[in-house]
Amino acid sequence: MLDHTLKNTNLTYRFPKNFWWGSAASGPQTEGAAQSDGKKPNIYDYWYSIEPESFHNKVGPEHTSDFYHRYKQDIQLMKEVGHNSFRTSIQWSRLIPKGDGKVNLQAVNFYNRVIDELIANDIEPFMNLYHFDMPMCMQEKGGWESREVINAYVKFAETCFRLFGDRVKYWFTFNEPIVPVEAGYLYNLHYPKIVDFKRGAQVAHNTIVAHAKAVEIFKKLNVKGKIGIILNLTPSYPRSENLEDVQAAHVADLFFNRSFLDPVTKGEYPKELIGILKERELLPAVEPEDLQVIRQNRIDILGVNYYQPRRVKAKTKPEPAGAPFMPEHLFDPYIKPDRKINPHRGWEICEEVIYDIMMDIRDNYGNIPFFISENGMGVEGEEKFRNSEGFIEDDYRIEFIQEHLKWVHKGLGEGANCLGYHLWTFMDNWSWANAYKNRYGLVEVDLKNDLNRTIKKSGRWYKQLSANNGF
Ligand code: BG6
Repeated sequence: MLDHTLKNTNLTYRFPKNFWWGSAASGPQTEGAAQSDGKKPNIYDYWYSIEPESFHNKVGPEHTSDFYHRYKQDIQLMKEVGHNSFRTSIQWSRLIPKGDGKVNLQAVNFYNRVIDELIANDIEPFMNLYHFDMPMCMQEKGGWESREVINAYVKFAETCFRLFGDRVKYWFTFNEPIVPVEAGYLYNLHYPKIVDFKRGAQVAHNTIVAHAKAVEIFKKLNVKGKIGIILNLTPSYPRSENLEDVQAAHVADLFFNRSFLDPVTKGEYPKELIGILKERELLPAVEPEDLQVIRQNRIDILGVNYYQPRRVKAKTKPEPAGAPFMPEHLFDPYIKPDRKINPHRGWEICEEVIYDIMMDIRDNYGNIPFFISENGMGVEGEEKFRNSEGFIEDDYRIEFIQEHLKWVHKGLGEGANCLGYHLWTFMDNWSWANAYKNRYGLVEVDLKNDLNRTIKKSGRWYKQLSANNGF
């Protein structure tokens, strides 16, 4: 067995003073109480009510880990596993349940209590405003395809800044905004399960406009804090250095990274991406003021979620004429034969990519302040790693974190402006259609035993990591 006991005196990787150590989660994935205290359904609550079989073991959103009632105990556990910061999200469908602007006071009380409890325990609260959880009343108006929904979101954001901006200093408009586009409008994975690139492009554009308008109101209100967005950056690597493969990777990067990264940091879409869409008549409808609002409202801070790279190669054969457009018409996926894999989730593990991302931000995005806002290892069937003392002995997760942090450390040494590292996630939580299939937490949540929380070996190690500010 590996010995992960750390000696304060013997650190190989030291991190900068005040580095953020913590984790990320989201309201819909942890709170539970999905139908109570005034909360109304979001698209996942609704989707579960009509198609429970689409969720792993038919476990729906009302079963999430009951943070709504156990937040005090959970915040104590956060402290125990070394958190100095923690990100969650405010559920729109809890705060403004009917979408009419009217605030639910029970929600205000709940988020106030959570924020105050975090601060009282020296844990900096980071608040995100949208983690895939479109209120159903907004989806009925067209979701992100509708301009009315953009305006309602901006009102929701403003309400959050006014209510909580005196204490929350780090705000994020969206988590992984490309995921609802992919899952809901391209690949038939999540509600509303539309498969239509052009509508997906409209969703993406409207999301970026909503983001920029939220940044605008944040600045107008003069909230004393920073505002940003959390993007899942999945860099594209070509199979080979052949021009065709390199070009394929470049195009994949335009669609899956730069589509969001460029407008929020540089204030404009990549010209090449616009060219590709224009040629195929796939450009979304753009209102006259949209581009200006995007240009004028750039982020202060970026959150980078990194799990695995994307590998691509040049297309081997063209799509049949007339097939509805998909980004994969322009490149083929590639599986690297000697890749390292997480056997419990099936995802590639490639730690040095985190360093490439850091260098890309340093060199091509003005070295803006950022942090690793999610990184983590999902494990299916994790109960099998429980030891005789009754806790999960997840050495694989400790090693996963260490190996990534070595590259973060190297990037920092080369001038990257990285402010912290947040693991996905604090405690095992519900994850959309995958429900509780893949466990990511530093703390186990026992579904069979009253949602009992038990700190895993990684949680004990994380505490030392944070206390030593290195390993
Ligand atoms: C992240 C999302 O990308 O992946 C989370 O921000 C999600 O919301 C996590 O829970 C893990 O996903 P999965 O499918 O492995 O459970």
